[in-house]
Amino acid sequence: MERTFIMLKPDAVQRGLVGEVISRFEKKGFKLAGMKLIQVHRDLAEEHYVEHRGKGFFEPTVDYIMSSPVVAMVWEGKNAVALARELMGATNPASSNPGSIRGMYGMDISRNVIHGSDSLASAEREIALYFKPEELIDYKKAGEEWLSE
Ligand code: CDP
Ligand code: MG
Repeated sequence: MERTFIMLKPDAVQRGLVGEVISRFEKKGFKLAGMKLIQVHRDLAEEHYVEHRGKGFFEPTVDYIMSSPVVAMVWEGKNAVALARELMGATNPASSNPGSIRGMYGMDISRNVIHGSDSLASAEREIALYFKPEELIDYKKAGEEWLSE
């Protein structure tokens, strides 16, 4: 089982999309391992996007995720990192698959609703940035036996 880090960005919270997006993850078959509403401050925002430091969109993106509370979550499942990226859709909602979360709820790359780790290594790094080990819960979820052989 893999774990991936997912964030509902400020636009998702402000636009009342939290429930709908969480529902997409639940219905897909992911298991929730951790969740909290937080206000991201500059140090954390810059660390989150450190790979993009120096690019033109770095500062606006850091400002964006600090602009209002976000929902930080860890979702678990078989191949969770790649499956979550599929469910989210491409970075730019203008070209994301229309059935994906970004394709369904977003209009512009600067307000693309959701963040998800892009690799297992990023997932481990991002989970550790936002969660203490004791904030993640390992439990048995009803119906797991119906998700794969
Ligand atoms: O979020 P994702 O991994 O799909 O894309 P990224 O290339 O790692 O970029 C991180 C975030 O920066 C995006 O999700 C956008 O919020 C923002 N961004 C932007 O506003 N304009 C760009 N040209 C590229 C990224
Ligand atoms: Mg990325």
